[in-house]
Amino acid sequence: MRWIIGFLSLCSFCLANPMLEELISPKQIEEKIVAVASELNALYGSEELTLILVMKGSICVGSDLMRALKMPVNLVCITASSYGMNGTKRGELVIKGMDGLELEGKNVLVVDDIFDTGHTMQSIIQKLSLLHPKSLKSLVLLLKDIPRSIAFRPDYALFPIDDLFVVGYGLDYKELYRNLPGVCILK
Ligand code: IMP
Ligand code: MG
Repeated sequence: MRWIIGFLSLCSFCLANPMLEELISPKQIEEKIVAVASELNALYGSEELTLILVMKGSICVGSDLMRALKMPVNLVCITASSYGMNGTKRGELVIKGMDGLELEGKNVLVVDDIFDTGHTMQSIIQKLSLLHPKSLKSLVLLLKDIPRSIAFRPDYALFPIDDLFVVGYGLDYKELYRNLPGVCILK
């Protein structure tokens, strides 16, 4: 009985929706966040950190990560969208929220949900580097295993995944499913 309840609590969204299959459980995510936060706590020590969350996809990983960080964190949210209501068809990359950002001499960590082609993160990092931060790093929840035309890679990638379209824990399909507690394959 306990096993059944445990299973249901892990996969209740997927059981209710045959289009979803759980790929990464909430517990696996929690464990990875604890591990990477301890690396970051050791790296930055008590120095201030500016955490730049790329909305909306990084909302879950960003909010869980920041609460595991021990240094004083300055939270900044920017938005990047290339899918919108197109679903799985890529559109033009639009980045908003960087105007007036002052990052000179600051430690900066950019957090996004997934590194797919990498164009979003690469373009954000290029723009931020012009603001002369003391350090500039990038972290993504997921790293898709695909051939890429760019050499740039994030400094931290919590889970490598196959070339699948995934939703949940911040990631959407046509703005839905961001609320799933784990990462699920959309079949
Ligand atoms: P990139 O610029 O190709 O790396 O794409 C990054 C953005 O595309 C991510 O921040 C997501 O918003 C979106 N994206 C890419 N792959 C997926 C996916 O499998 N599910 C949901 N969103 C995705
Ligand atoms: Mg995104």
